[in-house]
Amino acid sequence: MLAVAATFAWTGGWFSPGHLDQSRMIDTFEAVNGPHPGFRRNHAKGVCLAGWFDSNGNGARLSTAQVFKPGRTPVFGRFALAGGMPAMPDGPEAVRSMALNFTQVDGEVWRTGMNDIPVFPMKDEKSFYEQLVATRPAANGKPDPAKIKAFFAAHPESMRAIGLIKGAPFSSGFANAAYNSLNAFRFVAADGKVTAVRWSMKPVDAFEPEPEQAPKDKNYLFDEFAQRLARGPAQWHLILTIGQPGDSTNDATVPWPADRESVDAGTLSLSTVTAEADGNCRDINFDPLVLPSGIKASDDPLLSARSAAYSESFTRRAGEAKTPSAVQFGK
Ligand code: HEM
Repeated sequence: MLAVAATFAWTGGWFSPGHLDQSRMIDTFEAVNGPHPGFRRNHAKGVCLAGWFDSNGNGARLSTAQVFKPGRTPVFGRFALAGGMPAMPDGPEAVRSMALNFTQVDGEVWRTGMNDIPVFPMKDEKSFYEQLVATRPAANGKPDPAKIKAFFAAHPESMRAIGLIKGAPFSSGFANAAYNSLNAFRFVAADGKVTAVRWSMKPVDAFEPEPEQAPKDKNYLFDEFAQRLARGPAQWHLILTIGQPGDSTNDATVPWPADRESVDAGTLSLSTVTAEADGNCRDINFDPLVLPSGIKASDDPLLSARSAAYSESFTRRAGEAKTPSAVQFGK
């Protein structure tokens, strides 16, 4: 009996209360950003989107997922800024995200969260946690540069990734940004063939660089996107990039070679943007492991770490009172 109990205690982490689990990760987001009940603990400032995906059938050779067969799939989603402050001002430094939910005709669902950076700065849960702690504001309200320096000294892969991120300039808005899965996944074809894939949403709107000085409107990126939709849906091509043997599937800090084959699987159209509210994207968890058959997780350790942390963030915010989000339209 005692041996069995000890096994449970060990797997439950009772002997190592300081170990890194989703609870400690989310506690740390809260310590860094302060309490913001009702909001996501990361990517806290955002709006809800709706539209559709028109598949051209090209992705069907890689995956049996219904979304890649020719035809239309309804989509809803969320644009957000990375960071745990729900009222942070929009600015040139903010990483933008696009989260999407595809509800296939067969009822299966595909959820994905993508960022407008070329690689992710951290390779696993532990280093993500360490950078969170290193960037925690000190008494003067600013992070301690010595701690940040020590983090990068211990994580050369993060240093290299930041170099790549700085080398890829941000676009002027949500509609002309490219969003990347960053993590690799496995596509399973009808004959059982498995292909490593990273995907991106590449904008139809032309790239324009971000203004050097942020406009006065604290929500200028979100407000401009609402104005952009007045001219018709914003569109992106879903590009599936095919990994080759040796391409890293378990380290999102490492890019794949630029000459990898890619498949344009169809066009995403977003036609509606609304403030977060009851019943729209606000109360959804864009867990990257909600996948239809035909798409599987890779060996990237960030995927299960994300799934666990999002679940904890979702559970906490679902039980909290809601206050209106910073971005409201038509007010
Ligand atoms: C261990 C690493 C990571 C941790 C701990 C983490 C943590 C979080 C948390 C707590 C949320 C809010 C979840 C919610 O309440 O619904 C979030 C949102 C998000 N994360 Fe991560 N994240 C990690 C890595 C990544 C990576 C690699 C990407 C790559 C694209 C990513 C993209 C996003 C996006 C797009 C959202 C916003 C989803 C939405 O709008 O609901 N994250 N993250």
